[in-house]
Amino acid sequence: MRIWTATAAVFLITVSSVLADDIQDRQAAMDQIRVGAATLVPMLKGDKEFNADVAALALRMTYAGSIAFQGKFPEGSNSKGANPAIWQDKPDFDAKVADFKADAHHAVENLPGSLDQLKAVYQPLLQDCAACHKLYRIKDN
Ligand code: HEC
Repeated sequence: MRIWTATAAVFLITVSSVLADDIQDRQAAMDQIRVGAATLVPMLKGDKEFNADVAALALRMTYAGSIAFQGKFPEGSNSKGANPAIWQDKPDFDAKVADFKADAHHAVENLPGSLDQLKAVYQPLLQDCAACHKLYRIKDN
């Protein structure tokens, strides 16, 4: 009996730390994506001059972030920022993650040489952020 309890406790601790890793991983991936946006949005607005090398780096970071984000939402990995709606319609959420990754992939395959080209590849990604956050992210500030 005692052994079973101990085994169950170890199992639970293992499961919850795996879930905590998923939460940490996806938040780190999103942070990487945020740094990409913080670099690219001022260029889009004309507050910063277009720079092809910097834009390429930020787009690659965004793509890497989209890869790291994928698959990090197992059942039960609730967090303050994740709307439980994710697990009520997981196929829709997963489709939005896949769209984001596909748009990020398209961007790194078509690295921009001008501001107009940057707009063409990055605006769809900004729409992806908004579409997903509206339904699936809880922002407390
Ligand atoms: C497919 C859905 C989806 C897309 C696309 C998406 N996000 Fe998120 N984002 C989330 C979810 C869900 C969370 C909350 C994760 C959590 O807290 O566990 C989040 C959290 C964040 C956070 C907070 C991270 C932290 O440290 O807690 C930032 C910043 C962010 N997103 C920025 C962006 C930007 C910028 C884009 C677009 C370039 C974007 N996101 C695209 C779903 C998405």
